[in-house]
Amino acid sequence: TRHLLGIKDINEEDIRLIFETADNFKEVINRPIKKVPSLRDITIANIFFENSTRTKLSFELAEKRLSADIVNFSSSNSSVKKGETLIDTVNNILSMKVDMVVMRHSSPGAPHFLSKNIKANIVNAGDGTHEHPTQALLDSFSIREKLGDVAGKKVAIIGDILHSRVALSNIFCLQKLGAEVMVCGPITLIPKHIASLGVKVEYDVRKALAWCDVANVLRIQLERQQIKYFPSLREYSLYYGINKKMLDNLDKEIVIMHPGPINRGVELNSDVADSKQSIILNQVENGVAVRMAVLYLLAGGK
Ligand code: CP
Repeated sequence: TRHLLGIKDINEEDIRLIFETADNFKEVINRPIKKVPSLRDITIANIFFENSTRTKLSFELAEKRLSADIVNFSSSNSSVKKGETLIDTVNNILSMKVDMVVMRHSSPGAPHFLSKNIKANIVNAGDGTHEHPTQALLDSFSIREKLGDVAGKKVAIIGDILHSRVALSNIFCLQKLGAEVMVCGPITLIPKHIASLGVKVEYDVRKALAWCDVANVLRIQLERQQIKYFPSLREYSLYYGINKKMLDNLDKEIVIMHPGPINRGVELNSDVADSKQSIILNQVENGVAVRMAVLYLLAGGK
């Protein structure tokens, strides 16, 4: 059984096949009739143990465009609240003849655990601070669409790197596609051993912006902080918040990305988030085609 658990486990050829397949699906979903029969008779369960807007809706739309049958599960209004375990929850859902599981969970490794214990294709829709593979795929797909290629581009990932699954999956994906990667943020929010992954580390956001072609800006993930990290949101926005003036001072026009949700006025000002340099909503649009490609290929599409 095939899975997409993380970008670490796939290679450049896999990523390029996903992108070429997503190119075709992007064309399909811009037609008046958006639906294709590719996953007819396939049943997919979207199992979310953590909140989501973009990933959940985007997977759901991708599945509907592919004609799959779908069921949605949110732990917040389920029997998990009565003490049911992850494996019992999933086995009960699978008893209803589900072929694929898209899962978001707060524990790193939860989808890997499932993949070893159940017979269904597993797609990781974010596991704690570990990986968010489809986000990284749609991010690189959006860079490729905007700049022609990912290879040779300089991408700065700016923000709370320590708690970010988006950062780790992006590092793997960008490097596999030949980009140069920098991480930037306060020293307390950058993991000590990150340089061993072959990324540059920068603590000054102005230097990071001057270096890069693309800035992928992340929010501070307060919900994952076990202890109260320095800086506070107010201090973060003072030292790391990106505004239009900072971009206008650069000698080139860089591309601004953000996986969402944005905390406006903290990591990004609205004059940047809504500017013509921002491709934030293009990322969301591309998420549907990229997720269609992932589901189609995992189901055995050629
Ligand atoms: N980018 C992202 O994962 O957003 P959601 O948490 O809203 O799904």
